[in-house]
Order: sequence, then structure tokens, then C-alpha cells
Amino acid sequence: MSTIIKNGTIVTADLTYEADVRVEDGVITEIGKNLKGGTELDASGCYVMPGGIDPHTHLEMPFMGTYSTDDFDSGTRAALAGGTTMVVDFALPNQGESLLDALKRWDNKSTRANCDYSFHMAVTWWGEQVFDDMEAVVRERGINTFKHFMAYKGALMVNDDEMYSSFKRLSELGATAMVHAENGDVVAELTAKLLAEGNTGPEAHAYSRPPQVEGEATNRAIMIADMAGVPLYVVHTSCEESHEAIRRAKQAGKRVWGEPLIQHLTLDESEYFNADWDHAARRVMSPPFRNKKHQDSLWAGLQSGSLSVVATDHCAFTTEQKRYGVGDFSKIPNGTGGLEDRMPMLWTHGVATGRLTPNEFVAVTSTNIAKILNCYPKKGAVLVGADADLVVWDPEKEKTISAGNQQSAIDYNVFEGKHVKGLPRFTLTRGHVAVHDGEMRHQPGHGKFVARAPNATVNKALSQWKDITAPRPVQRSGIPATGV
Ligand code: URP
Ligand code: ZN
Ligand code: ZN
Ligand code: ZN
Repeated sequence: MSTIIKNGTIVTADLTYEADVRVEDGVITEIGKNLKGGTELDASGCYVMPGGIDPHTHLEMPFMGTYSTDDFDSGTRAALAGGTTMVVDFALPNQGESLLDALKRWDNKSTRANCDYSFHMAVTWWGEQVFDDMEAVVRERGINTFKHFMAYKGALMVNDDEMYSSFKRLSELGATAMVHAENGDVVAELTAKLLAEGNTGPEAHAYSRPPQVEGEATNRAIMIADMAGVPLYVVHTSCEESHEAIRRAKQAGKRVWGEPLIQHLTLDESEYFNADWDHAARRVMSPPFRNKKHQDSLWAGLQSGSLSVVATDHCAFTTEQKRYGVGDFSKIPNGTGGLEDRMPMLWTHGVATGRLTPNEFVAVTSTNIAKILNCYPKKGAVLVGADADLVVWDPEKEKTISAGNQQSAIDYNVFEGKHVKGLPRFTLTRGHVAVHDGEMRHQPGHGKFVARAPNATVNKALSQWKDITAPRPVQRSGIPATGV
């Protein structure tokens, strides 16, 4: 069974050219002109690009007394509908739980995935068992990225000493550290003060997590990663303070990456001042949406390369779940959706405005992610031998985003009413055409786990450099006698 994507323009992170693509048994087997012999998909007027990779999702995640509503079935359906062909979800151990037991729970959740997926491991507590488990997680389970929450005090948060111990272990194992960077101690104090003063509505969520707390935590994480000698990936970079820290670290030669979300790029803090409680609460996430100054900074970061990837942090709660926080904003489950909308929104607000080139679009939605997470060129590439995770992107196709016709299982969409131009004509997941001109032909269970090896080239380079520059005693010929 051979499928040929005909008459399209291939757009990768570094090339644009006209060619057909042959797909067999889930992989790309030929790229060239006038290919013949197989089922044809007409890509005239379209760009043939690597499918999107969303490096940050929370599907069926236990959080704040409930579970996020989109699971691996509805979440990956939403992904495919929007041109994303791989998601990376966070496995979250409970306090005292072994990392391997947490992974079993995530293995069970993911059996109905419609597209390929991988996991990051979260370090939510610290002890000898976590230290020991990390080796098996990396070497046997194909997970090379470990997230640390510097916020959510009393729940997921870890302290600096725990982070330093974990980062050193990751450095030994050739893995990469990730952080949710917000100063959780200060957020907890600000939250208590706001509530005591009668600021109980969703707008207070934004006041409780100002950009300074994110900037401080980002700087702290960068310093700790540098001391431990481990590459660092900062998730959901939302503000200039955090971006500035990442930019400065990169300019100083440190291996640090920043990940803005499509929500932070295109939605601002005015959403929290909406007179409708539900409207504001549905947009509560951490970090919160910011003002235009911060949005401009994030776009500039993508343009200049100081920020590397665009994600969603898809963590979708229904209106009913959001209402757990009526009368107390700190009880509103934190999280927003975006899986179906990331690529069309970024194309519309990034490429169609001239902020990003089509090649940069591919880089930040797919190729850079695959390289950082060490699954390139299996993913993130249009190359012979790569997985046929492809999106045939029609730059003329338009729609208005609406919860009424989305794949996500929740009852609203934070992008409701936004008009997008640039949508998938076809989305292929390992060769299977899951989106066919607006029709969903997904197959629950088709998605496979993507193992990611440790010791990527950047991990090796950093450990070599840290080794060469490590403190060493000076060898001296004569040592003066001690005493008077
Ligand atoms: O508000 C958010 N971002 N919810 C998901 C969990 C996290 O912090 O990433
Ligand atoms: Zn987070
Ligand atoms: Zn997250
Ligand atoms: Zn299939």
C-alpha cells in the first residue's frame, strides 16, 4: 500500500521545494518529481510539512482535586484536527510514589491515543527511590526529560536543594531538566493576601502570579542547571522577565531553551477582567496571560531564536470544573486547551502577518522540538526513512474557531470566535490519513509510544565542557612549611 502526496510544496525547517512524497508502511520511502503508482492525495496549492509536535500536554491529568477532561483519545483527536501528529505528556508521580508506578498509570491512559506520543517524567518529590528510579526511566523507558514544578506549593512543588540533587542526577544520566518557573513561596503569600483582602475572583489569579515571580524562578533554575551541568528547558515562558533570563543565558553559552504557548502569544490579560465569571475562569492558567509588552517580547524571541518552540500546555477543564473556584480563585483548576488551534493560530498570527517564515513555523512547531527532545529525524522531518507524520497545509482554508465543532471534550474554547486562515487539508499519522479534507478518520489506539534516548549531542557537548572546566587542584613543586 503506497500513498503519494502529489503536487505540493515541501516546507521543512530549512528548505522549500516542489516534490511529491511517497509513503509506505508508515514511513516516507521516496521524495521526487512526478511519482506514480499508489493512492494519490492532492496537495495542489498546499505546503507539505512535518506534522506538529506538541511538547507540553496534560491529558487526563489528576490536578487540583479533579482530572483534566481531555484524555488521550479526545486530546490526540484535537491534535490531528489541527495538524499536530505527536504529543508529549507529563507523567506525574504522587508523593512517595515510584516513578515506574506513575509510568504504568500513564501507559494505561494512553492506550487510545490516535497519534504517536511520548512522556516527560515529573519529579514531584525527592528521595533515594526517585534517584534510583531515574536510571530505569532513562535507560529502560526511553524518557530523557524531567520536569520540576517550582510552583504549586504543598502539592507538586520541589525546593532548590531537591532540584539541585535531581539536576545533578540528570546530568550523570545524560538527560535534560525542565522547569515550571514561578516562585511558589511568593505566589502562596500573594494568594493568601489577595483572598484576605476580598480579591476572590479570577482576575486575582493574575495578580497572584506577576511576571517578576516567573523571572526570578527562571534565573534561579538557570543558575542551578549551570551548577549541575545539565541542559534546561523552561516550559510556558510567558513574559519578558523570563525571556530575558533565557536570552542572557543563551548569550553566555548556556544550553537553555524557552517554550512560549500559543495562548500567551495571542491572548492577553484583559480576558481576566471580563464581567462574566465563567469567561475569566475558563482562562485561568499558570502563568497567566500577560499584556502586549510581554507578547511582543515572545514574538521577538521566536523571530530571533532566543525562544525555541511553541506549545499549548493543553490541560482542559469544563466550565463545571472551573466553578470549583467560585468564591476562591485559588481553587479554579489551572489550565487551558489549545491542541486543535496551535498550528492555525500560529500560522494566522505568525506567518500571515510576516512575523515568521513558513520554515520558521515548521521549526518552532516541529523540528526544533524533535531535536531538543532527541527524536529527530524520526519525527520533525520530511526525509526518506522518517515517520510519515505529515500535514498537508492549505494556506487558503479558513474557519472561525468554535467550541461547537471542536474535537476537545470541553464545553468552550479560549479562542472562541477567532478567525484563522491556514488549516490542514490532510493530516497523516505514520502514514494513516487521520484528517481527510475536514473529515476525521482517526483510529483510537493507532498512536505508539516514542522512546527517546539519553545523551543527545547537546548533553554530550555540555558534559564535555563542564568536565574540561571543572575545578582541579594546581600541581605545585614546593609547598611552604606550615606554622610560624
Ligand atoms: O495552568 C497550567 N499551566 N496547568 C497545567 C499544569 C502546569 O502548570 O503546567
Ligand atoms: Zn506548568
Ligand atoms: Zn503544563
Ligand atoms: Zn493506522
